[in-house]
Amino acid sequence: MSPVLVLVGPMGVGKSTVGHLLAERLGVGYRDTDDDIVAAEGRTIADIFVDEGEPAFRAIEKRAVHSAVTGHDGVLALGGGAVLDADTRALLAGQRVVYLSMDVEEAVRRTGLGVARPLLAVNPRKQWRELMEARRHLYEEVATAVVPTDGRTPEEVAEAALDAL
Ligand code: S3P
Repeated sequence: MSPVLVLVGPMGVGKSTVGHLLAERLGVGYRDTDDDIVAAEGRTIADIFVDEGEPAFRAIEKRAVHSAVTGHDGVLALGGGAVLDADTRALLAGQRVVYLSMDVEEAVRRTGLGVARPLLAVNPRKQWRELMEARRHLYEEVATAVVPTDGRTPEEVAEAALDAL
């Protein structure tokens, strides 16, 4: 079993909103690895970061991504940092992967001060820039299509993603 399509991209880019629209349009189910982790762990992602730190979260995330990529046949959205793991990137080879991109200013606007997002709590603009510098090439590496989201509604992004398939 493998997903019809996998969505990757930074937090706040709209993977969940666009993913639900795509699942509806394609008549398939929607799954999100962040939701899987929260359900399995019985606590929020922010709590996992605070209680155990980022490396422990990444290990949990890696298992969640592996099980979703091998066990789901609909639309699958991955957490923004899932592509940091080399095994995860290898697992995505051969999948249809859409990278939803946005520029830093749009990112700051959409995620605000990152209250629920532990990676953006201190200086959102600077942290966004660093995050994207570290990750942009990883998103591009796994992507079979790149769909910019700046200035587009979720419906327009979903349409562009379908066109790109
Ligand atoms: C993260 C993105 C979040 C969540 C966690 C870490 C990241 O997922 O997995 O807070 O490292 O970019 P979303 O991209 O779904 O917000």
